[in-house]
Amino acid sequence: MTGPRPSGPFRVGDRVQLTGPKNRLHTITLREDGELHTHHGVLKHTALIGLPDGSVVTNSGGHEYLALRPLLRDFVMSMPRGAAIVYPKDAAHIVSQADIFPGAVVVEAGVGSGALSLWLLRATGEEGRLISFERREDFAEVARANVETFTGAVPANWEVVVGDLAVDLPRAVAPASVDRVVLDMLAPWECIDVVADALTPGGVVLCYVATATQLSRVAEYLRGTGLFTEPDASETMVRGWHVEGLAVRPDHRMVAHTGFLIWARRLAPGAVAPEQKRRASKSSYGDEDVELWTPGAVGDRQITDKNLRKRVREAQRAAEGARQAASGESGEDA
Ligand SMILES: C[S@@+](CC[C@H](N)C(=O)[O-])C[C@H]1O[C@@H](n2cnc3c(N)ncnc32)[C@H](O)[C@@H]1O
Repeated sequence: MTGPRPSGPFRVGDRVQLTGPKNRLHTITLREDGELHTHHGVLKHTALIGLPDGSVVTNSGGHEYLALRPLLRDFVMSMPRGAAIVYPKDAAHIVSQADIFPGAVVVEAGVGSGALSLWLLRATGEEGRLISFERREDFAEVARANVETFTGAVPANWEVVVGDLAVDLPRAVAPASVDRVVLDMLAPWECIDVVADALTPGGVVLCYVATATQLSRVAEYLRGTGLFTEPDASETMVRGWHVEGLAVRPDHRMVAHTGFLIWARRLAPGAVAPEQKRRASKSSYGDEDVELWTPGAVGDRQITDKNLRKRVREAQRAAEGARQAASGESGEDA
C-alpha cells in the first residue's frame, strides 16, 4: 500500500487539499464536472486537472488557492474519527521502536479510526500483512472507510477482525507466527498472554497508553510473564518553531501529552533474560519503594537537621504571631 499517487500532474480521482483565503483548508476529490463553491466564488475542478502538484489556481471571484495532494499526516488529522487517533508524532515513533519493516506480519488492536493502521500499512508495504482487531463494529467501519479513502481501495494485505484481541488472536494466527504487535487500547495487559503466544521469538510488542498508571501496569505485567525482555518506555513531545526573520522562537502552542510508548521483545521459549535473573521482581509499592522517592534519593538537595529546626522555629513563631493577632494582642509590643 503506497496511498494515493504521490506525484505527477493532478488527475480525475485524485484527492487535493486546497488552501484558500484566510488559510481555510478544503479537501476535494477531482471530477471532470466538479466545482468547489464557497462564498468567495466557484472553482472548477478542471482548472486543476493536468496541473503539477503545488500549483496555485484562481476561482471565479479572483481568490487564489494553493493545491497540494494531502500527505498521510494531513489526512489522518482531518479524517473522520470514531475513537481518538494516534497522532503522527507517535505513529512515527511507533514505527521505529516497534521496528515495523517491509514484509512484516503485524497485528494491531484496536483499530479505532484506522490512523495507525495507515502508518503500519505504509511501513509493511505490499509484501507485508496487517491484521487489525477491533471489538466495535462501528469503529471498524470508520477505519475501513478511512483506509479506503486514503489508499483508493481496501488493501489486499489488510484484514480487519471484529472481536476482542484476547479471544480472537489465537483463532486468527498460528503460534509464534507474528513479527510485531502494536496495542492501542485501554487495558493492554489483558492481551499480553495471547500476544506472547502469537509473537515469533525476538518479535516486538509495543503498547501505546495514555496514562502513567496504565504504563506502570503494563510494564509490571510484561515483567511478570518472564517471557519478554526488560521493557523500555518513552513519550514523544514535538515542539514546533516559528521561524520568520528575526522572530525565531518556539511556537506558543503545542500538542503536549498524547500517550506513552512501552515496548519489549519476545524471548525464545524457555529463555530467561539475564537482567530478569538479577532483579527482584516487584510490582507493588512497599515502604522501601516510597523511600526511593525521598528528595535525596531523586537528587534534590536535602535540608540539614539544623536548618530544619530553624524552619520549625520560624514556623512556630509565625503561628504564635497569628494566634496573638487573632486574640487582639501584639507580639511585637509584648
Ligand atoms: C484509542 S482507539 C485506537 C485508535 C487507533 N489506534 C487509531 O490510530 O485510530 C482504541 C480502540 O481499541 C478498541 N479495543 C479496546 N480493547 C480491545 C480489545 N481487547 N480487542 C479489540 N479492540 C479493543 C476500542 O474499541 C477502541 O476502538
